[in-house]
Amino acid sequence: MSELPPSPDCLPGNPCGSPRCSACTGGRPVSRREFLWLAAAGGTTALAGAGGLISPVWSAVEASAQARRPPVTPRELPWTTMRLAPEVRPEQLTLRAAPGIADIGGGLEVQGFLVNGSLPSPVIRARKGDPFRVTMENQLPDPLILHWHGLTPPEEADGHPRFAVRPRGTFDYRFTVENRAGTYWYHSHTHYKVAEHAYRGIGGLLLVGDEEEDALELPSGPREIPLILQDRRLDRHGIPVYEHPDTMEGHIGTAPFGNGIHQPRMEVETALYRFRILNGSNARIFRLERSDGRPMILIGNDGGLLDEARSVETLDLGPAERADVLMDFRDLEVGEEFFLRTLRFEVPGGVTHGRSVAKQGEPMDLLRIQVDRKVDDPSPIPTRLSQVPLPDPDEAVRERRFEFTSDRDWSSRTMMTHRINGQEFDMNRIEERVPFGDTEIWTFTNDNGFAHPVHLHATHFRVLSRTGGRDRVFEHEAGLKDTVLLHPNETVKVAVRFTAHRGLFLLHCHNLEHEDVGMMINVLVE
Ligand code: C2O
Ligand code: CU
Ligand code: CU
Repeated sequence: MSELPPSPDCLPGNPCGSPRCSACTGGRPVSRREFLWLAAAGGTTALAGAGGLISPVWSAVEASAQARRPPVTPRELPWTTMRLAPEVRPEQLTLRAAPGIADIGGGLEVQGFLVNGSLPSPVIRARKGDPFRVTMENQLPDPLILHWHGLTPPEEADGHPRFAVRPRGTFDYRFTVENRAGTYWYHSHTHYKVAEHAYRGIGGLLLVGDEEEDALELPSGPREIPLILQDRRLDRHGIPVYEHPDTMEGHIGTAPFGNGIHQPRMEVETALYRFRILNGSNARIFRLERSDGRPMILIGNDGGLLDEARSVETLDLGPAERADVLMDFRDLEVGEEFFLRTLRFEVPGGVTHGRSVAKQGEPMDLLRIQVDRKVDDPSPIPTRLSQVPLPDPDEAVRERRFEFTSDRDWSSRTMMTHRINGQEFDMNRIEERVPFGDTEIWTFTNDNGFAHPVHLHATHFRVLSRTGGRDRVFEHEAGLKDTVLLHPNETVKVAVRFTAHRGLFLLHCHNLEHEDVGMMINVLVE
């Protein structure tokens, strides 16, 4: 079979998604079977009902309406007012995951995977010490299991992929929330499907409060903004597509989404706001800043509140990392506007490759913020925040090393493997046995061309050092973390201690395409 030509409709930053286009298929001739699947699932075909064929594309709801809609470039689409997800409490809560129709702004309604009909998934608000009683109903056409990222429940409630339930199945989660006040989240952990599920809309924030946080009187109500930042690729009609996921860099999009809205905007008062930010992208790393040049006040990260507030100009946030920041709009004038945006950066030693329509480190405006009302807000900005229970590296009794490597593999369909210590994920194999309660030093190394956000379940760790690459520990890596960004050529050392539960948990890359192709290992805490 010969090489396909690129489609003339396929523009940089605006891929056509056609199975006949070389730019969209990586020049790989598409087999007849695959072609039929893609064609049957294409953007102008309505989605089949439950149990039927579900498209890899986000289908437009009205096939005919879409056909009438002229092709757009993303820049022509408007900035749309961002919504906040509905809030729920984790008591007698049912979370139903199902295909559904979501408004993504710009007048577009598309088919996604939704939890309780909402995009993004509802915000779960809990208190430390709360019982967590949640039933998941799986109405997706795939197996599903949810993971509570950053919480430390017992193993049967942690969402290991071996617990995934079939379509129409249910799963009961019962545990006590033991974690500090912080910004956590939940998402699918179905093996091979995490990336697609997240991309299509499964994922919500999980906000935990406690007494230490109450005492700080942080901005709340309409001045507390849960914010899931993501990127997606759009087809010529502005509809998000998830096809031919790039297993090298991971699926990097060209269009910004905030809480499920493409090109989100919000109006604010001249007040102090709290943003609970999650990088919910499959693969894109953000280097966040305010385009008006003002700093952000960082108060928390993956592991909850920091010991004290820190003023930061920029924030590197890999997939799955969170930042809890205060933004002060009190010295702005009504009518002023600016963006929360991601800056251009180089991935040191990173691989770039011609096929990708979007690259890691490209700049993008993420959220447009407009000041629309003058008010008086005397809220203080706290300095001392919290007592962080850090593991002490001087008490370490053992060291372990984890090598994150990527290789070409022409024999596999994905053409790329990503491994930890040479292993591809096997649900039934235990790679590491870690004694409960011991403090250990874990070293993560990456001598390949891709960045890996390294995530550990069942505990939080303390970042001790980063050598090579960016060569420093950042302000937002103080305190406790559950995900740490490992750029090419970087070696990161962390202090780890499991004190929550014994059981089988996971260590994996949170670049979701990397995770799906097997960059994950089992860790048994015993
Ligand atoms: Cu956020 Cu194992 O996942
Ligand atoms: Cu997790
Ligand atoms: Cu990775």
